[in-house]
Amino acid sequence: MTQRIISEVTYFGAVESTQDIAKAHAKQLVLSEQPLGFPRQFYVAESQTRGRGQHGRRWISPEGGIYLSAVIPDVPQYMHRYLPLISGLAIARMLMRPWFPSPWLPGPPKTDIAFTNVHLRWPNDVLFNGRKIAGVLSESVTMGHRAVAVIGVGMNVNADPAASDSVLSQTATSLAHEIGGSVDKVKVTNAMLHNLEDCIGALTSRHWSKLHQEIYHLDFLRGRAITVAVNDQCLSGTGAGIADDGALLLAVPSQREPQAIYSGTVVTVDDRPIRPVE
Ligand code: BTN
Repeated sequence: MTQRIISEVTYFGAVESTQDIAKAHAKQLVLSEQPLGFPRQFYVAESQTRGRGQHGRRWISPEGGIYLSAVIPDVPQYMHRYLPLISGLAIARMLMRPWFPSPWLPGPPKTDIAFTNVHLRWPNDVLFNGRKIAGVLSESVTMGHRAVAVIGVGMNVNADPAASDSVLSQTATSLAHEIGGSVDKVKVTNAMLHNLEDCIGALTSRHWSKLHQEIYHLDFLRGRAITVAVNDQCLSGTGAGIADDGALLLAVPSQREPQAIYSGTVVTVDDRPIRPVE
């Protein structure tokens, strides 16, 4: 039986940012006259010197982490808004099922590790035991009607950015820290790539509502007191779930229906700031 190869993976040592490399490739695709489709291209680096996070923040990228960016030409533009959430879901599934599809856990599972304590914090964070372990940066490169998505994923695996920063130590973690020993990064990367392929495939096969249900159940903000910065304004209320269109729902006492937020940054959860002030 022949298997269709739909992705290519390029590995680097140190780069400035895999996201910039992927965006340059995406730009070539939108400018070319070729039909947009397969292959998807993944760029993976050992470390980055100018890693970028959401909202122009820095993404500290020492050796020991996973830094990958994917060029996705086959997802139609109207679906791009789901990509941060489904990428987070792919990572969450990988953390919750370390034995499947490509096992990354060293040795037998320890019974005191709660592999179920994995959540998504809208729109782009993955949490393990309540602390951020991975983040997603989802961007689109467009030219007229042509659009190519670029997804960047950074994950703290064996390096722990929280170790040297007192604020990050309250809010971030690494895989090695959580499971109590270093892990094989190649295996983790392979499992992540597999799950990303699976989730993107399910999205393009119009299975969003199933993915949405799973995302809804992993929502860290549901039922918690949160403050969200939206266009220089801060909105406070209670997380009321993730809407079918990917928006964050915020229940505000003065309003009957929860407010849908499409773009914003969650700044506090249960009155605690969730990232260092820059
Ligand atoms: C965030 O949580 O703010 C998103 C972080 C995304 C970081 C990744 S690492 C690979 C890719 N290259 C970058 O420069 N950024 C993304």
